[in-house]
Amino acid sequence: MEILKIENLSKVYGKDETAVKALDDVSFTVKKGEFIAIIGPSGSGKSTLLHLLGGVDRPSSGKVFVNNTDIYSLNETQLAIFRRRQIGLIYQFYNLIPVLTVEENITLPLLLDQHQVDKKQLDDIVKKLNLESRLNHLPNQLSGGQQQRVSIGRALISNPAIMLADEPTGNLDSKNSAEIIDLLKMFHKTYNQTLIVITHDERIALQADRLIAIEDGKITRDEVIRP
Ligand SMILES: Nc1ncnc2c1ncn2[C@@H]1O[C@H](COP(=O)(O)OP(=O)(O)OP(=O)(O)O)[C@@H](O)[C@H]1O
Ligand SMILES: [Mg+2]
Repeated sequence: MEILKIENLSKVYGKDETAVKALDDVSFTVKKGEFIAIIGPSGSGKSTLLHLLGGVDRPSSGKVFVNNTDIYSLNETQLAIFRRRQIGLIYQFYNLIPVLTVEENITLPLLLDQHQVDKKQLDDIVKKLNLESRLNHLPNQLSGGQQQRVSIGRALISNPAIMLADEPTGNLDSKNSAEIIDLLKMFHKTYNQTLIVITHDERIALQADRLIAIEDGKITRDEVIRP
């Protein structure tokens, strides 16, 4: 089943002589449950693409369908709801809220949606992330690896259909990186989630099912490595 369809997607930042074409007429489809690694040089348009897949930004032209919904035909409120329910986002620098505890950071997407926290599900996620003894800590009382595990928890709590990660190990040492990759893979398998990861880390790229390379805003390579 096709979960994502990207049609002729382009993004131009700025106008006139300062205009930058960050994404140039990109099209592809993604099957439910696929694990895709996106690679490419700095400035090639990887983050721009990921943001457009997640409804974080709007394209200059082209369409993104998630489960057959044309997400950019939604208004801002609908798009925000779509994002909270369908997309789990993980960033290189975690983007946790400094004044909220670990538990509050993880459950924030549910609270914003006025949904009750499912205690059993929360316990399960917290246990798998090995954060049981840190629930009442603040982000600045955690190591980088722990902070990234919290951000994975926050991304998972609403059972999103698609997990998007932008260099999730870019700020971590090799031991913590390996742990984060294992967790992402474990959740991808356990919940049959679609996982799209931007990475400069060869170890991640080689574990994906499919590799997409981007240069100058265009796809230059798209191969299935593990059918
Ligand atoms: N908000 C913005 N305003 C103007 N230009 C932008 C903006 N965001 C990105 N760009 C430009 O768009 C191009 C693509 O940027 P993008 O962040 O998608 O690259 P990237 O592949 O993620 O790079 P990196 O590996 O360094 O993270 C770059 O030339 C960048 O300067
Ligand atoms: Mg980037």
